Amino acid sequence: MIEAKGLTKKFGELTAVDAVTFSVAEGEVFGFLGPNGAGKTTTVRMLCCLISKTSGEARIGDYDVSKEQDSIKIRQMIGVVPDNVGLYEPLSAYKNLDLYGRLYGMTEMKRRESIQRYLTMLGLWEKRDVPAGTFSKGMKQKLAIARALIHDPEVLFMDEPTANLDPESAKTVRDFIMELKKEKRTIFLNSHNLDEVEKVCDKIAILNTKLMATGTPAELEGMVGARKVMIGLAQANGAVVESLSKKYPGLTASPDGMTLTFAPKDPEGQIPDIVEAVVRAGGRVRSAAVEGSTLEATYLQLVRRDAS
Ligand SMILES: Nc1ncnc2c1ncn2[C@@H]1O[C@H](COP(=O)(O)OP(=O)(O)OP(=O)(O)O)[C@@H](O)[C@H]1O
Ligand SMILES: [Mg+2]
Repeated sequence: MIEAKGLTKKFGELTAVDAVTFSVAEGEVFGFLGPNGAGKTTTVRMLCCLISKTSGEARIGDYDVSKEQDSIKIRQMIGVVPDNVGLYEPLSAYKNLDLYGRLYGMTEMKRRESIQRYLTMLGLWEKRDVPAGTFSKGMKQKLAIARALIHDPEVLFMDEPTANLDPESAKTVRDFIMELKKEKRTIFLNSHNLDEVEKVCDKIAILNTKLMATGTPAELEGMVGARKVMIGLAQANGAVVESLSKKYPGLTASPDGMTLTFAPKDPEGQIPDIVEAVVRAGGRVRSAAVEGSTLEATYLQLVRRDAS
């Protein structure tokens, strides 16, 4: 549904986005991560036909972002929650949405239906007649989300949609994204919140001007290779480590001897064998678990690797 091939944007001497290639399937939630200035917003702007690309290709559905006549079709297909919200502040929440609905040529009935649906879903229906300028940051953010959805777009671009939200509102928006996903909409999500991305995204890309990695959350977590099997013992037993260290070269024990750490290739698959081996060697097993490297560990490693 969204495809970028060698997509590049230069601002004068500065390369903001460097030959980025990825694809997002229909109905997928795609998380776009990267440090400040990595080029996330610039990428979204190119995909939404808001700025022109310098080179490479990008398509939304069957349409090419660089073709004038296609960009009209793309604008109909997509909804955008921009990084700076930009509402008509003197107008009420309802009128802000109504204005957008008119721009998209929606009938009055459709507009009313859609406005009520989204304002209600985002907890703003009661505030529909209040001028948007008096809204708090989070309320404006939610109104911008409603605005992006008013014409029922197939593809939704969200640039840090939960950045200004309190934890409860952020959860409302996350749940809302999951609802949209059930409706098979394709969602492109820029975020700095790794936890959020891990929860809602099917696929993640890490950008640092260049694309550093893409994959499912689990694939990215596996990338730094830090997933280990941790065996808790009921009592310390040095003999266990001694007899197993040949078979399991990565084996280490915690200073108190109560926790053994194994580093096999396939941690989940190896748990039963490891537990059996520990028991055979005389260890009394109290717990067994796989401790994965987190998405944060992968992210930091990839972003740092680039810096070094
Ligand atoms: N209109 C512009 N003119 C010149 N430089 C720009 C312009 N827009 C963006 N840039 C530069 O491009 C780079 C990428 O910026 P961009 O806003 O895409 O980053 P980002 O990943 O969205 O960062 P953040 O996480 O802070 O939102 C930055 O160095 C920025 O200064
Ligand atoms: Mg940005």
